[in-house]
Amino acid sequence: MKLKDLYYEKHRIRLKGKMDIEGLKKAGRVALATLDLVEAEIRPGLATEKINTLVHEFTIKNNATSAPLNYRGFPKSVCVSVNEVICHGIPGERVLKDGDIVNVDVTPILNGYYADVSKTFFVGNPGPDARKIMRVARESLKKGMSMVHPGNTVGDIGWAIQKYAEEEGCSVVREFVGHGVGFEFHEPPQVPHYGRKGKGIALVPGMVFTIEPMINLGKSHLRVLEDNWTAVTADGSLSAQFEQTVLVTENGFESLTPFDL
Ligand code: MF3
Ligand code: CO
Ligand code: CO
Repeated sequence: MKLKDLYYEKHRIRLKGKMDIEGLKKAGRVALATLDLVEAEIRPGLATEKINTLVHEFTIKNNATSAPLNYRGFPKSVCVSVNEVICHGIPGERVLKDGDIVNVDVTPILNGYYADVSKTFFVGNPGPDARKIMRVARESLKKGMSMVHPGNTVGDIGWAIQKYAEEEGCSVVREFVGHGVGFEFHEPPQVPHYGRKGKGIALVPGMVFTIEPMINLGKSHLRVLEDNWTAVTADGSLSAQFEQTVLVTENGFESLTPFDL
């Protein structure tokens, strides 16, 4: 049996071909340009609703649509997660203030291809806690990505992230994981940001998935607000996240949403 058919039969993972990769890279470029546009507007006093407007309009202008909008009832075009919000923050009346950190998570769909990417930004002048969680979250993604090559497993990615983040005295969120992506928003496999070396599905060329560790300054536990989306740290500590969509290649990996870490 072909590897492609085997991975679909066994794991329901759809490996991506040359054309798909081209399409995903184009979607990735729209996603990164969206984050650049938002970054330029981030300042104290900006309402998170404005970020939604920016993302929504820019996405449409680029002939794409926003995957989050109406996804399982999510009401907006982007997730905006401030400070103690881990992920799935709903843009609205909250106003950014000096010293905040804010994660902006975008997923445009362009010609049917989904690219999922997020960055956390400083608002104004960061304090020491904000600096620390940003540094650890960035480096966590980098550590995870460095494990991506054929022969390694999904468990190796989680293991590398967990080891690093916990050594730094931070914690890894368990309830949300990286995921296959490309033809749909969330595809198999799940990619936990914790785990054991050598466990889980073996990586093979053509796999496309996100790595998106959510790292807390305090404990890993979370609570979901009444809106049924907003996930916050149970202890109120800061949480930061960086996310890229990566392709497993013959020699290692290529990011389809590349930015410096
Ligand atoms: N972009 C998120 C992820 O990285 C998913 C957001 S789901 C939404 O997987 F509905 F909140 F948009
Ligand atoms: Co994702
Ligand atoms: Co995302």
